[in-house]
Amino acid sequence: MLRIALDGPSGAGKSTVAKALAKRLGLIYVDTGALYRTVGLYVRNKGVDKDDEKSVIALLPEITLGMEFINGEQIVTLNGVNVGDTIRTGEIAMYASRVSAIPEVRSFLLETQRKISRENSVIMDGRDIGTVIIPDAEVKIFMIASSKARAQRRYLELVAKGEDCTYESVLADIELRDKNDSTRKTAPAVPAEDAIFLDNSELNIEQTVDKAIEIINEKTNGNY
Ligand code: DC
Repeated sequence: MLRIALDGPSGAGKSTVAKALAKRLGLIYVDTGALYRTVGLYVRNKGVDKDDEKSVIALLPEITLGMEFINGEQIVTLNGVNVGDTIRTGEIAMYASRVSAIPEVRSFLLETQRKISRENSVIMDGRDIGTVIIPDAEVKIFMIASSKARAQRRYLELVAKGEDCTYESVLADIELRDKNDSTRKTAPAVPAEDAIFLDNSELNIEQTVDKAIEIINEKTNGNY
């Protein structure tokens, strides 16, 4: 079993790098942010205020989340329906950021994440994987990049998808989400004590993957 916890702030390139690593090392890539986004989607669809914790918590019993892997592709279902790309908007990201600060939401999603990591070799991308979900992961990487580098990448992604936004608004969103995610009381997005930092502000994807492979080799004595 090889379990890699890949944590770090929004837009640090975790998902791109994790997908490449999963392919190279034959691991299942688990995107845990998709679960928080799916809860956020449900809250939005129900017209509930994302800052109204009590009402958000009251919705949880109505939610059945499913996670499947088809040809290495993660499918998340919400009450039996594949959420697809509907969770990939800036609006839903903000809902996800708010609801992920609620302890009840985090415990609601805990077992889904632990179960997959118990049964498979995984690379799991999130915020609290190395600290809460898989504290005994063989490898823990905390991936960072400057907020400007992250905003620039996310902006280009959103524009390519046809979203109407500006670089400044994307940067402001990222900085707000960073603040929410790192200062919340439950499972703040902070590195595990034994995590290795990987700063990719000045690296492209290939260089970042190479650097991660170096870290994995070192941590596993070259067994992977
Ligand atoms: O990685 P992402 O942008 O899809 O994550 C969406 C939000 O979910 C983000 O604001 C932080 C939160 N999140 C979390 O709190 N814990 C995780 N393991 C993954 C995501």
